[in-house]
Amino acid sequence: MSSTRPLAMVTGGSSGIGYELAAQLAVRDHDVAISGQSDRVHDAARRLEADHGVAAFPYRADAATPDGVEGFWRFVADLDRPLNVACLNVGIGIGGAFADTDLDDELRMIAINCTGLVHTAKRVTHAMLAQGPEQGDRRILVVSSVSATTPTPYETVYGPTKAFGFSFAESLREELREHGITVTALLPGATDSAFHHNAGMGDTVYGDNSWKNDRTLVARQGIDALFAGDDHVVGGDDATKQQAVDNRTTPEPEKAARHAETTRPPGR
Ligand SMILES: NC(=O)c1ccc[n+]([C@@H]2O[C@H](COP(=O)([O-])OP(=O)(O)OC[C@H]3O[C@@H](n4cnc5c(N)ncnc54)[C@H](OP(=O)(O)O)[C@@H]3O)[C@@H](O)[C@H]2O)c1
Repeated sequence: MSSTRPLAMVTGGSSGIGYELAAQLAVRDHDVAISGQSDRVHDAARRLEADHGVAAFPYRADAATPDGVEGFWRFVADLDRPLNVACLNVGIGIGGAFADTDLDDELRMIAINCTGLVHTAKRVTHAMLAQGPEQGDRRILVVSSVSATTPTPYETVYGPTKAFGFSFAESLREELREHGITVTALLPGATDSAFHHNAGMGDTVYGDNSWKNDRTLVARQGIDALFAGDDHVVGGDDATKQQAVDNRTTPEPEKAARHAETTRPPGR
């Protein structure tokens, strides 16, 4: 039986902030296509269906490869339905001194956070333009970070990948405005997910998830901003939002020194 619900896609939607974005969209009665790198994506889809009564379509692929990125896009396109929401969320981090981190790991991160973002956004843009306004909303969410607003020493390549995403989203927004397609950037502050553990930052203050922003709150703020058509939203509590405001006027060297205090690995 074919669904009449709007369709959303979420890259990296199997866990963390991406899963919560998918859940928020399901709460708004959207069917969701989600991607992930592990088999957990199938469990995530089953949970979304059981908890929210929508259809969820899981796809497992490596977002660091063009085949993986194109594979998820083809999977979504083959559903043969209008695409109403695209959340370009997947992203990884790498902590550590730049002198110590592995170049291949960093190039892989750039492939996921930047190259893959552009690749998916290209497909989504063409599809939404071809689809036209008759088939409902056409909204794009790009998940950036508060790290886009500051130098990020000891995550020296990660922050720039997120600045790329933020600037990219704001530019694409302006281009697509006259076509009735909205683009919104979500800039989460530190959020309770597996992100910092996976980034090898377990021995910094980011190893402790207890003080971080709640990922459900962050996702809800992102989806609210998406449907309000806002250009961007900072995801997190009032202190996180204030930090992003302060970052606009704080000199770069000062922000860099402050960031290094929280990210410098022991012994460096
Ligand atoms: N957490 C934070 O503090 C924070 C702060 C600011 C911005 N952000 C941004 O928020 C976004 C989501 O981060 P998160 O905190 O939710 O991270 P996370 O908990 O590590 O979740 C990552 C998601 O991406 C998927 N993924 C990771 N590598 C992949 C790959 N190579 N191919 C396909 N899927 C892959 C994971 O799939 P599996 O479930 O299969 O592993 C999972 O669904 C990222 O863009 C990140 O930069 C996070």
